[in-house]
Amino acid sequence: MQMAWFKRRKKKLDDTSLKYGVGLVTYTNPTGQIAEQFKTVRTNIQFSSVGRDLKSILFTSSEPSEGKSTVSNNMAVTWADQGTKVILVDADLRRPTVHKSFSVSNRAGLTNYLSGNLQLTDIIQPTIIDNLDVISSGPIPPNPAELLGSERIKTLIKELEGQYDLIVFDAPPVNTVTDSQLLAAQVDGTILVVPQGIADKNGVRRAKQLLETVHANILGAIMNRVTAQKSEGYYGGSYYGGNYGGYYGTEGK
Ligand SMILES: Nc1ncnc2c1ncn2[C@@H]1O[C@H](COP(=O)(O)OP(=O)(O)OP(=O)(O)O)[C@@H](O)[C@H]1O
Ligand SMILES: [Mg+2]
Repeated sequence: MQMAWFKRRKKKLDDTSLKYGVGLVTYTNPTGQIAEQFKTVRTNIQFSSVGRDLKSILFTSSEPSEGKSTVSNNMAVTWADQGTKVILVDADLRRPTVHKSFSVSNRAGLTNYLSGNLQLTDIIQPTIIDNLDVISSGPIPPNPAELLGSERIKTLIKELEGQYDLIVFDAPPVNTVTDSQLLAAQVDGTILVVPQGIADKNGVRRAKQLLETVHANILGAIMNRVTAQKSEGYYGGSYYGGNYGGYYGTEGK
């Protein structure tokens, strides 16, 4: 007899962004409804950190394929639009997409810097967007956690802080690998991307706990893939719109 749990197959990952990059709707349609939602999130993040200098932000989620790259990359564009000098760093050394999304080379990137082979000037690449530069992942190494946990990451952040107003890290998921925990301990703030109706509640709770273990400064969560009906429940009728939901602080939750 076959037990039900034998039948359960592992959820297939959506690899579209891995192949083609994420949709930069904030660039292609900067006055549209979705771009407006990203602006709202930008404002809310600003409010959540009043009085604290926020120079580096990490975007992560509990599991793979939940929208970290889509949200972090579009947020980077939204900050750059405002005149903030932004550097977007692809710290997802296992499933990198930034080079695809911004059509830049990935011959040299973060891994080359962290392993001590290249300098910052060798890995920073401009994009078609004003005020936005990127650092791609670089060649995928056999030891991502070791690289991201090295002292070089602190040097990188310090160096970038000298040149940019804001560093945005697109990171791997928290529950599957330790990479994001290592990074979260080094940045000023961490944001969890939570796909509504898709993310498992316990998984999100676990991610929050793992981040708290390393004393990460969790700024809040961004609800991704929020439908109109669902967001009404969250915002008491005030509809923040389409796919990208609002942003809420995690304090006390
Ligand atoms: N709000 C949204 N509406 C529709 N599609 C979305 C939304 N957010 C993400 N997606 C799609 O879901 C897929 C995964 O998104 P994305 O690559 O941003 O996730 P990720 O968390 O960075 O994944 P990975 O773990 O591979 O790094 C992509 O194909 C992306 O286009
Ligand atoms: Mg990604």
